[in-house]
Amino acid sequence: MPLSDFLDGLKDNPYFGAGFGLVGVGTALAVARKGAQVGMIFFRRHYMITLEVASKDKSYHWLLSWITKHARHTQHLSVKTSYLAHESGRVHTQFDFHPSPGNHIIWYGRKWIRVERTREKQMIDLHTGTPWESVTFTALGRDRQIFFNILQEARELALKQEEGRTVMYTAMGAEWRPFGFPRRRRPLSSVVLEAGVAERLVDDVKDFIGNPKWYTDRGIPYRRGYLLYGPPGCGKSSFITALAGELGYSICLMSLSDRTLSDDRLNHLMSVAPQQSIILLEDVDAAFVSRELLPTESEQHFQVYPLAFQGMGRLTFSGLLNSLDGVASSEARIVFMTTNYIERLDAALIRPGRVDLKQYIGHCGRWQLTHMYRRFYPEEPASEGEIFAEQALSAHSEISAAQVQGHFLLHKADPVGAIKNIGQLKG
Ligand SMILES: Nc1ncnc2c1ncn2[C@@H]1O[C@H](COP(=O)(O)OP(=O)(O)OP(=O)(O)O)[C@@H](O)[C@H]1O
Ligand SMILES: [Mg+2]
Repeated sequence: MPLSDFLDGLKDNPYFGAGFGLVGVGTALAVARKGAQVGMIFFRRHYMITLEVASKDKSYHWLLSWITKHARHTQHLSVKTSYLAHESGRVHTQFDFHPSPGNHIIWYGRKWIRVERTREKQMIDLHTGTPWESVTFTALGRDRQIFFNILQEARELALKQEEGRTVMYTAMGAEWRPFGFPRRRRPLSSVVLEAGVAERLVDDVKDFIGNPKWYTDRGIPYRRGYLLYGPPGCGKSSFITALAGELGYSICLMSLSDRTLSDDRLNHLMSVAPQQSIILLEDVDAAFVSRELLPTESEQHFQVYPLAFQGMGRLTFSGLLNSLDGVASSEARIVFMTTNYIERLDAALIRPGRVDLKQYIGHCGRWQLTHMYRRFYPEEPASEGEIFAEQALSAHSEISAAQVQGHFLLHKADPVGAIKNIGQLKG
């Protein structure tokens, strides 16, 4: 049969006709769908605005809190638990609810905003080991101002939560992350140091912060290093926390014995530390030991020196010195170091320029004991403080403030007992 006859035959076939009709509907649907897609893309491009914020961005956590506040009715939540163990042993936990990954709709500024929080399952942020996340805000209209308003509000909300509090940061990968929830500022007066010591330190730091021009005029890097040294429990860490509170600064806590710390990472962290913060290197002796104290080769053979005190990890001593020198920024850079063993520190680490002010924080003297007693028992006559100091010093030597605090806590409501039982002070 010739081809034309075959096609004619098909045309007369009723099934073929029906099939042709179906194909026609299918094509129309496909075209309509395509049209809708194109229309949607067009609509999105011209009548919708979106804002994507990645978890790496500073404002990400602020925005999560903001969303939590505004998406009050959402039923899908995830939890972030903060855990804080106080020095006194009291443990405090707090649950922060955040909207879980997925879509949330928020009514804001007389507009509906769709908030989509996405979490990548396959991708993790190698620096922090957390899943890669982002939030995307979508709103109708063309006015971007709404996003600025949201960001601003989120920032203010976060700052309000931190008001009157000291934020602690730790290094997570290549960035600083707040840890725990901000602590209530510790008043400076609650840390009783020997007469004049606290004032000297506070004046020095304030003078430094207040005079950036002095440094730039002379071409001196705008940074200042402090070393607090002395026996354990005498108030080094407490004083630095209180000082940060006094200045309204946060604290960036850096552990040099962190085995994952490398020269590059330390350098980077030092340069990206949040503004208005104190970089705190606790127990600097634990990571490095003075080169003079390093065992000679024959001693090394017998390992007379504890291995823990040799440089650990990939952080080298010269790397540490370089990162201390390299922190040049227009912001005041304040580095505090603490140690129990100043004699173990290499002279290069504590030379002027790296450590500009060294302060010994020692065992309690008479003045300090008197004032601690008066602070703890303000209702008692002032002379009782002197009696307490007198008796404490005659019964013990080398009393640390932490021991005195522990003794007072045992005699919380018994100021007379605190003096009478002075023998138990070193418990
Ligand atoms: N001078 C002080 N005045 C008031 N309280 C103090 C003082 N020193 C220490 N304390 C109390 O003792 C405890 C331990 O103090 P802190 O951690 O500041 O000591 P430290 O000098 O940093 O010790 P370490 O060398 O072991 O780190 C804290 O609970 C603190 O409140
Ligand atoms: Mg300490």
